[in-house]
Amino acid sequence: MKPRVLVTRANFPEVLEFLRAHFEVEDNQADEALTPEVLRERLSDKDGVLTLPIDRVDTELLQACPRLKAVCNIAVGYNNIDVAACTAHGVMATNTPDVLTETTADFGMALMLAAARRMGEAERHLRAGLWQGWAIDQFLGMDVNGASLGIIGMGRIGQALARRARGFGMRIRYHNRRRVAEAIEKELQAEYADLDTLLAESDFVVLTLPYSPEAHHLIGAEQLARMKPTAVLVNLARGGVVDDAALAQALKAGKLYAAGLDVYEGEPVVHPGLLELENVVLMPHIASATRATRVRMSMTAARNLVAALGGEKPPHLLNPEVWDKRRT
Ligand code: DGY
Repeated sequence: MKPRVLVTRANFPEVLEFLRAHFEVEDNQADEALTPEVLRERLSDKDGVLTLPIDRVDTELLQACPRLKAVCNIAVGYNNIDVAACTAHGVMATNTPDVLTETTADFGMALMLAAARRMGEAERHLRAGLWQGWAIDQFLGMDVNGASLGIIGMGRIGQALARRARGFGMRIRYHNRRRVAEAIEKELQAEYADLDTLLAESDFVVLTLPYSPEAHHLIGAEQLARMKPTAVLVNLARGGVVDDAALAQALKAGKLYAAGLDVYEGEPVVHPGLLELENVVLMPHIASATRATRVRMSMTAARNLVAALGGEKPPHLLNPEVWDKRRT
């Protein structure tokens, strides 16, 4: 009998077809939102699952799913999955690095440009029928070209963003848990800086680090106060890395020029203070959302699942301890 797997939400036909060649697949093409109770119930007789960042995998779920061997997240970020709990339950957890790097970095540039050049605000003005024609001082923004960029989190996406920023003639500083290799610093002409210096010196600060408890509210009122009042903050990382209430206050008080956000604390709820401001571009967590990239992410997760349930080490295994234990 084929292993049984669940795909928690709607996915692309070619991905489901690939999975059906290997598994008995329960899909959710109606894209019904699954409460934690329903997810537990649907997973209770499954061997594996393809999850999205909106699906929470925790001890309670794992306890209710004794057959489960693999949780394959369709995302590079995996703060929705309690990896330690998966390890304790002997469940492999995987993610989808690399395949979304360039698409996400494109979106980082788009958010910088949109926030600095007031594109959301200007479009709302035009659509409201308020545009009276060209004017010398209309929607004046900030230049991205030649400005200084501070990247917090110099992993794959941070580096891809730096490459693009070089093309805009930006001066690049970065902050990361560890300095990147000298060859990369040289190639990107990126200078390592401590967090306070980066915040104080950058015209644009872009967050591309993974979420971790240590990164919670890394950017709060104190850090925002260190930034230039002319600066733009972009969050491409995860909700919770920025204190959204503090950010709304700083933007409202003119202590920060603008922000571009793709992720929020408590998604899909957005802090009401942000919703009422003109100087913030608010996007619904779509940095990796091109069809090609979302198919690649889904196929990567599907291949991880095929490997995990087929007795091979999944290429993007987050808890190799589980694999090592199976082999001994
Ligand atoms: C990721 O892969 O972590 C993205 O945030 C999902 O779009």
